[in-house]
Amino acid sequence: KHFIFLGAPGVGKGTQAQRLAQLMDLPHVSTGDMLRASVQSGRETGLRAAAVMESGALVGDEIIVRIVEERLLLEDASDGVIFDGFPRTIHQAHALDNLLAAHGDEIGAVLHLDLDDEEIVGRLSGRRVCSKCGAIYHIRYHAPTVYGLCDICGGGLQQRDDDQPAVIRKRLAVYQAETAPLIAYYHDRPAYHLVSGEGEVDDVFSRIVKAVGVAG
Ligand code: AP5
Ligand code: ZN
Repeated sequence: KHFIFLGAPGVGKGTQAQRLAQLMDLPHVSTGDMLRASVQSGRETGLRAAAVMESGALVGDEIIVRIVEERLLLEDASDGVIFDGFPRTIHQAHALDNLLAAHGDEIGAVLHLDLDDEEIVGRLSGRRVCSKCGAIYHIRYHAPTVYGLCDICGGGLQQRDDDQPAVIRKRLAVYQAETAPLIAYYHDRPAYHLVSGEGEVDDVFSRIVKAVGVAG
């Protein structure tokens, strides 16, 4: 079974998806991370995606569906994955339903994280990400022990290019226009859970574990 994190940029999808992946021993599949890796590789697709991501818009559905399809074919995905940042458009949600139906797979849970915009902007402006292992930090809420260095692997922490105030506003608007319609798309399914993103990371995680029904 596959798990989906749905919610605005900065709501805490990546933070919670990394933890759930560890708990459930399933791969964490972040389309944002995959796109950023492809930008780093300097390949054609990556370079085109970089410009789109820096503007805060969404990368084209065809590219996204293709990378997800390829990812699901890898052996470690056979028991399910934790999706983070996918699907993000109605087209992607349809494509996922078709893909899962073709393989006899199901969605185990849609975890819709919800948080005020004001709180979101505060979280995104202080975010730092490990350049080596991808661990997520915040300069105030989740600071590393040693300034600028990852607690887990010692890698250097970086600010994402799209965590600038103007781009954050654009991403929130794009979320409302293109991704928020997915709430209605999933709302009436038994797998759908609305989870408050407020409070400490541990508190949010307890709510998720309860919704999913695994032992935390
Ligand atoms: P992507 O990488 O998916 O970014 P996003 O959706 O904007 O989400 P974020 O990573 O910004 O936030 P998050 O919810 O994961 O929050 P986090 O846990 O880091 O996408 C980037 C771009 O790629 C898109 O704009 C688009 O161009 C493209 N893209 C990706 N997928 C696509 C798709 N499917 N289709 C089309 N285009 C696609 O937390 C944020 C901060 O808050 C951190 O500092 C964290 O430490 C802190 N924090 C987390 N939880 C808490 C808490 N409980 N209390 C206090 N602080 C907290
Ligand atoms: Zn690290």
